[in-house]
Amino acid sequence: MRFTPNFLDDLRDRIPVSEVVGRSVKLKRQGREYAGLSPFNAEKTPSFFVNDQKGFYHCFSSGKHGDVFKFLMETEGVSFPEAVERVAEIAGVPMPKETPEEQQRQQARAGLVEIMEMAAKFFESELQGRAGAAARGYLGGRGLSPATQAAFRMGYAPNDRSALKSHLRKAGVPIGDMVEAGLLVSGDDVPEPFDRFRDRIIFPIQDGRGRVIAFGGRAMQSDAPAKYLNSPETPLFHKGATLFNHHRARAAAHPAGTVVAVEGYVDVIALAAAGIAHVVAPLGTALTAEQMELLWKMAPEPILCFDGDKAGRRAGFRAIETALPLLAPGRSLRFAFLPEGQDPDDLVRAEGREAVEAVLGRAAPLVEVLWSKELEASPTDTPERAAAFETRLKAALAAIRDETVRRHYQTAIEGRLAGFGRAGGDARRGGGGGNRGPGAGRFIPNARGGRGGGNGRRPGAPFDALPITASATLRQSPLVGPGAGRLPGREVALVLAVVNHPQMLGDLAEPFAELDLSTRDLDRLRRAALDAYAHGATTREAMRDALSATDGGALLARADAALLSSNWWVGPDADPRDAETAWRHAAALHIKVRALHRELRSAEQDFGRDFTDDNFRRIVEIQRQLSAAEGSEASIENFGGASGRTVRSM
Ligand code: UTP
Ligand code: MN
Repeated sequence: MRFTPNFLDDLRDRIPVSEVVGRSVKLKRQGREYAGLSPFNAEKTPSFFVNDQKGFYHCFSSGKHGDVFKFLMETEGVSFPEAVERVAEIAGVPMPKETPEEQQRQQARAGLVEIMEMAAKFFESELQGRAGAAARGYLGGRGLSPATQAAFRMGYAPNDRSALKSHLRKAGVPIGDMVEAGLLVSGDDVPEPFDRFRDRIIFPIQDGRGRVIAFGGRAMQSDAPAKYLNSPETPLFHKGATLFNHHRARAAAHPAGTVVAVEGYVDVIALAAAGIAHVVAPLGTALTAEQMELLWKMAPEPILCFDGDKAGRRAGFRAIETALPLLAPGRSLRFAFLPEGQDPDDLVRAEGREAVEAVLGRAAPLVEVLWSKELEASPTDTPERAAAFETRLKAALAAIRDETVRRHYQTAIEGRLAGFGRAGGDARRGGGGGNRGPGAGRFIPNARGGRGGGNGRRPGAPFDALPITASATLRQSPLVGPGAGRLPGREVALVLAVVNHPQMLGDLAEPFAELDLSTRDLDRLRRAALDAYAHGATTREAMRDALSATDGGALLARADAALLSSNWWVGPDADPRDAETAWRHAAALHIKVRALHRELRSAEQDFGRDFTDDNFRRIVEIQRQLSAAEGSEASIENFGGASGRTVRSM
């Protein structure tokens, strides 16, 4: 049954997480939180924390994180409804009763599920029979093997107005139920209900648990009035809340780390047959908010895959409009555009799995596509038109309901806008507009040697020929520079600041634990510091003693030696509040720079494959953002430091 959000919130309010967790994990109060040994990993020192105010537990050793229900699901292997029941019992709250109407509806639905299953079996067996010969030929011709047909339970509806009807009739199914299941066409103007699907290939549409709830039928003749025909809305089937292949993709999404939405049934099936199983499709309409919610249950950043033509881009833009209000921290979409005129089925058959994976690997973040969307909407070649562009972008951001996400989008878009003016108002990215050849180079800072004409680079040529000068910070970065093994300055600062000011962890334990560190040594030092803190090392002396007593000591000495003197705020003399503020700034910058480096690498790859002005400008734009980020690093390093004065607030 479904629980109302009110009921669940009520349970969360009544029962502190620590009370439920405390039944299986020994917890010790520590500041605002409770600490204990991880129930997920064998450990000797506690890295598992419970925060009742936030209603969450967080396990640093396993990275697991969740509310009271998730805890029971994770530790006891119960289902969500069972977890709810357990918490309700602890809280002494009665479970909501199913009304008699609700029970009746459930029963009716169960009846319809059975009927749909009978119909699916009928279509499957018809495909194997004599009437199915042409259909088998058609599927074979499309490269769908018998094994694939069987895996997706494909079938054939004979060219007969009552084949399914009489089959079900013999099994005792009332006509009214067949109508309710959407299998027959009926109505006041239809004297005798008749089979909806006739002479069509049948694709069963299954719900998240694999139950058949609808059918899609494809005509085999190219001149058929409707290529695809779907079941109507029924008590079982709500088109906008269903994804084709949901139940299989769900299982595959976890190991794959993502889920992909394509446009058609055959696309899903062809990709699955090629070994890309984490793929779903909507049912012939644009993705709805409900379908996006289903995608987000499978992965934090699903990839939406569209055709590279105008219609495909429009479909992508429409998806952005649906998604913006629904974005949340860590929850977004990525967009992959296929070569023009090809759908995933075409591409995988022509060029194989790798070609599809390459397209998916190049998926662009939402912010990128939003920018292109507004840029493509109309020219920006005069100040007024550029201003209209800015206004459109800002209006789009206003649709983001989550305040934090909206703020980050504002920062990102403002950064881009600042660069946009400088890059020339008519720099149209992704618009397919001319603007190639000589002259285009005037928009490109740092470009060594003439761009444009023939400087000898071909698509696919190696990157060392790129006319891009890496900035100083970039070259220092362990991602780019040859100096791997050296400890990166900013990361050293972020870790040492915590060692020198362990009380920061009262507020910053989570962001500190989640910081993306590029070297294993700093990661080890971080773990050791978290561990020491969890053991009560809440002062600098205790922290340093604890680290020196373990193998963290050598790491600590290396980190101390690598600390840049400009990072004054890390030192023991900095005011703790300044240190914390500076830490937050440095961490935000770190996250941004790491993301920019990732983006830069993918942009360089794109440029290698596709040597266009647009791809080139993207690199330049990322470099601009990187150097802007470096500028803000300088300002963190210098605030208060240069004058030797300690700044109290920023
Ligand atoms: P497409 O027209 O892109 O077809 O429709 P396709 O998926 O490439 O199909 P094939 O390869 O020609 O067989 C994409 C999706 O839109 C829905 C279907 O869900 C289809 O999979 N659709 C399309 C309809 O519902 N009705 C139609 O008439 C056409
Ligand atoms: Mn197709």
